[in-house]
Amino acid sequence: MLDKVAEYSQEVEAYNVSNVEELEQFRIRFLGSKNIIKDLFAAFKDVPNEQKKEFGQRLNELKKQAQEKFDSLQATIGQAKASVTAEQLDLTRPGYPIEVGARHPVSIVRNEIIEIFERIGFTISEGPEIEDDWHNFSALNFPEEHPARDMQDTFFIDNKQGESMALRTHTSSVQVRVMEGQKPPIRTISPGRVYRNEAISARSLSMFHQVEGLYVDKGVSFADMKQVIQYFAKEFFGKTKIRMRPSYFPFTEPSAEVDVYWGLETEADYRMTKGTGWLEIMGCGMVDPEVLKNCDIDPNTYSGFAFGMGLERIAAQRYGVDDIRYFLENDIRFLKQFKGAF
Ligand code: PHE
Repeated sequence: MLDKVAEYSQEVEAYNVSNVEELEQFRIRFLGSKNIIKDLFAAFKDVPNEQKKEFGQRLNELKKQAQEKFDSLQATIGQAKASVTAEQLDLTRPGYPIEVGARHPVSIVRNEIIEIFERIGFTISEGPEIEDDWHNFSALNFPEEHPARDMQDTFFIDNKQGESMALRTHTSSVQVRVMEGQKPPIRTISPGRVYRNEAISARSLSMFHQVEGLYVDKGVSFADMKQVIQYFAKEFFGKTKIRMRPSYFPFTEPSAEVDVYWGLETEADYRMTKGTGWLEIMGCGMVDPEVLKNCDIDPNTYSGFAFGMGLERIAAQRYGVDDIRYFLENDIRFLKQFKGAF
């Protein structure tokens, strides 16, 4: 029996491991729940009495030796592992390049428009996207039976109070709020999201962005409106020639559609202007006296003009995008092509 202990002791002494699996084998053999030292302890009863003391001591020594050996083997393997990681980790290697994000084309266009109007004293106003009937329609002189109120154009919202609420169909609603809350002179633009219940196609979306503008003061005339719009066309499109075509909006009288002369130099110009050279950019008009009255502004003292444009359309024209649905898909390959100063 003592020979057996000496044999195991030598085995422990000489044991060497080169990886974690071999270390585990050592642990199972000498320290595991069914290790061979335990077997020797079990054989204790067969040892002659006079040898029992020595056998016991030697077994305890063997047990200690095995544990110490295990600890030292483990330390060696751990070091080996650490040095491998250090070799693989090259701190001097240059990093992977990080792509810089780009602004969304609609945001670029919006910021540019805002900046252009800020330069001539317009402030920015915002309002809720869920609007009541008064701000979106009634105050703006929409008759009860006006087709724009129809279910086909407007997303109405059921609410428990029985109030008639809707997703705003234009940001003219914000202008009503400004006129209700401020006294003239008022010079403001309202950028924001608007919603219309329309079939989604390459040319129309059911959610899009607008910038609308409003100027109310004493003696504001149609000529002032023309000047401001011409200034905008020059700053934004770099074009000086505009024209106005008679149109209709319930909240302006007279009303007009504004076209900018884009030119017919390239094939793209033909496509974009449908062969006419003119590009429609916005609607505008002199604020209807009824609308001023609805907002407690005296139409005998004050007059004003308003205009409104859709940003997706303008961004599509500017960047030559032929399907405005791309603006909503958020495909990074599409979005990262646009660079703007804003
Ligand atoms: N609110 C109109 C629209 O959404 C645009 C507009 C604004 C027209 C102001 C005239 C004056 O189409």
